[in-house]
Order: sequence, then C-alpha cells, then structure tokens
Amino acid sequence: MNTAELLATRTAHLSSALSVLYPDDPIHVVRGQGQYLYDERGTEFLDCMNNVPHVGHSHPAVTEAVCRQLALVNTNTRFLYEGLAEYAQRLTDLLPDPLSVCVFVNSGSEANELALRMVRAHTGRREVAVQDSAYHGHTTGLIDISPYKFDGRGGSGRPPHVQVVPRPDPYRGRHRGADSGPRYVQEVRDALERCRPGAFFAEPLMGTGGQIVPPDGYLAGAFEAARAAGAVAVADEVQIGFGRVGTSLWAFQSQGAVPDIVTLGKPIGNSYPLGAVVTTPEVAASFAGGMEYFNTFGGSPVACAAGLAVLDVLERERLQEHARVVGAHLLAGLRAVAQRHEAIGDVRGQGLFVGIELVTDPEARTPATDLARKLVAALRRERILVSRDGPDDNVIKIKPPLPFSAADADRLVAAIDRHLP
Ligand SMILES: Cc1ncc(COP(=O)(O)O)c(C=O)c1O
Repeated sequence: MNTAELLATRTAHLSSALSVLYPDDPIHVVRGQGQYLYDERGTEFLDCMNNVPHVGHSHPAVTEAVCRQLALVNTNTRFLYEGLAEYAQRLTDLLPDPLSVCVFVNSGSEANELALRMVRAHTGRREVAVQDSAYHGHTTGLIDISPYKFDGRGGSGRPPHVQVVPRPDPYRGRHRGADSGPRYVQEVRDALERCRPGAFFAEPLMGTGGQIVPPDGYLAGAFEAARAAGAVAVADEVQIGFGRVGTSLWAFQSQGAVPDIVTLGKPIGNSYPLGAVVTTPEVAASFAGGMEYFNTFGGSPVACAAGLAVLDVLERERLQEHARVVGAHLLAGLRAVAQRHEAIGDVRGQGLFVGIELVTDPEARTPATDLARKLVAALRRERILVSRDGPDDNVIKIKPPLPFSAADADRLVAAIDRHLP
C-alpha cells in the first residue's frame, strides 16, 4: 500500500479517536535504527520525540533476546522460569530500599491501574490526589485520575473522589521561582487535608504538564506530606525512568525523594510491551491478602528477556551517563539560542528530557501556541521530529532515544534557531 492507501484504509477501519502525527504530511515509517526513523522512500528522520525505543529503535540486542526466547517458549508466571526471577532481582537491585517487590504488567496504564488497586488494598481509601495536567493512562480508572484527560477535549471533568494539586511549574505556575517548592508542598498538604486520599500520584518530572522540572524540595516534601496523611506516595516513572534524566536512574532520585510505589513502562522494554509496579513489602503484603493476581502476558519469558536486554544495553553502552553529557550540551545550546529569541520564555530539563516554552510576551509569559505549532511543522520539513505539550500546547518536547548524540543536538538547536522569529 502506498501512503495515500494506508491513510484511506486507516480512515475506513480504525476508530477516528486515534490520531495521526503531521496529518498534512504523515510519515509512513518502515524502519528505525538508533535515534533515526526511515520512511518508505528511505528518507531519514531525526527522532527527538520517542522515548519508548529507549536504547535505540530496534536495538539488535533487544531484538535478538526477544526472538531467541520467542523461539524457545513463551508462557505465564504460574510456571517457573529463570527470566522472571532474574529480571525481578536485577530490577529491584536498581531501586532504593524499601522498593523490593515487583509485579510485571504489559503497559504503563496497566502499571498505574495495578498501583491504584494496591493503594486501595493497603489503605482502604478510594480518594486520590493528583497533579494538575498529569496523565497516568488510558483505562477508565486512570482517565479519572488524569486531569490532562478529564479536563481536556472530550473529558467530563474531575470525579468527586479526585483532588487536584497545582502543577509544580516554577516558570508559569501558581507559584513561581526556584524557591517555590515549599509553597507547592503546602498546596499538597492542603489538598490532603481536604480529602484524606489513599494515594498521592506524581510524575517526578511532568510530561503532559509541559516538561516540568519541579522546584527543589517539592517531590520529597509532597511525598512526606502524603505519608503523614496516611496516603501512599506513587511515582509514575513511565515516561522518564531508566536513566533518561542522566544524573540518576530514576527521576524521583534526582528530586531527593523515594516513593512507596513506582510504576514503570514505555522505555522498560524498548518498545516491547512491558510494565512494572515495584513497591514495599508492606504494600505488597496488603495486596497479596486476598484474590490471586494473574496477568496472562505480564512478566512472560519474552517480556523478561526484553527487560533484561534493555538493562544490559543501558549498562554496556553507558547510556545514563551519555544522557547526562548530551543533555547538558543540548540545554546549553538551547539556552544560548534563547538569548537571541524573545519567543523562548524558558528552557528546562534534565538529561534528555527537555522542554522549550514559547511565549508571545516574555513579561506576561503568554503562551505562544501557534508559534509552537509552526515550529513543530517547520522542523518536520527538516526531517526533525519533536512534539509539543503543556496545558497550552506551547512547550516543545524533546525526549529522543538515548543514542541521540551531541551532533544531533547541534543540528536540532541550529534548526530551532533558524525557524524562530
Ligand atoms: C506519565 C505516564 N504514565 C502512564 C502512561 C500510560 O502508558 P501507556 O500508554 O504505555 O499505557 C503514560 C503514557 O503516555 C504517561 O505519559
């Protein structure tokens, strides 16, 4: 099928609730390698938007591990097999105490959905506190705790069992400046008093919120407040885990915080469907008190082979350190460009998780939504793929596969410089 036929067939047979990137000029992707995607004509695109192929698109070591295991056997966790035990050991060794008990699932949504069940089993409470603009997944239960969805297009508003705390955005949020952490923590405390929730869910660095790096002390203070109110602190690392932030393997560590539950997805299997919930022995014991947990595909031998291969590649290719070095180079380049363009209100990020907030007026910080749309389109014409997000869709999101190099960063920075007024 050519590109036009593909689009027509999609339109005929797939729900129109699914979107297509660059609808005026969609990309018919046939191959990926490292930080590059290739279309049906062999045109190469620099992928700065896909954090799922974490160690690189179609990494040969992950492909080989999955294929080898698929050819041997694929079954479920009611059998004993080495991959499951080895993977649970390796993954928990990479997490701080007391996060030592895992359950494997098939996606970030499944991980957060299971976290919700664990919270209810542990606390007996149904109420949940969440950050404004957060996204935690596509199931009914998770749309309910995702302001990005329930307050967004087609959403039906905040359900009564959910409390929303402000987005900890020191640039354009309710409280501004590097010292705004304590004021955001107080907001969490106030919300917890209002509703006595079972959990406080947080994205340690917010994605749909607009690539937010919270102010110092926020996450640790908010988790402490949650525990003091009898709630479970949940860190959703589905977007940002596994070394992307550079200075640590997990973003919550870069914030000096430790959750009671961490949920993992996306990069964990480098595009193989895999997710995990890792929690404390206490929360795990509350969950294990009643019905059996069975998940047909979660933690299958093939899924574990994918997860193990990702950990091996991360270590062998020192990709966390690479993210730290290249991320710092990218941020420095973008900050230099920001000096020349009033439209760049803020450049922020950690490692290879970076945001550029575009504004029409640097004083009022008015979101430049249309400019962000035009910049994404202009970069696509240069075969550079970025996306945009934030409550006003004016934040350019950069979260490439980790092999993204300093030369790629220079190319991206130069293109942004060329296309901004
Ligand atoms: C922070 C966060 N949590 C959870 C999810 C859900 O993950 P999945 O789409 O793999 O189910 C997403 C997806 O974008 C996410 O960004």
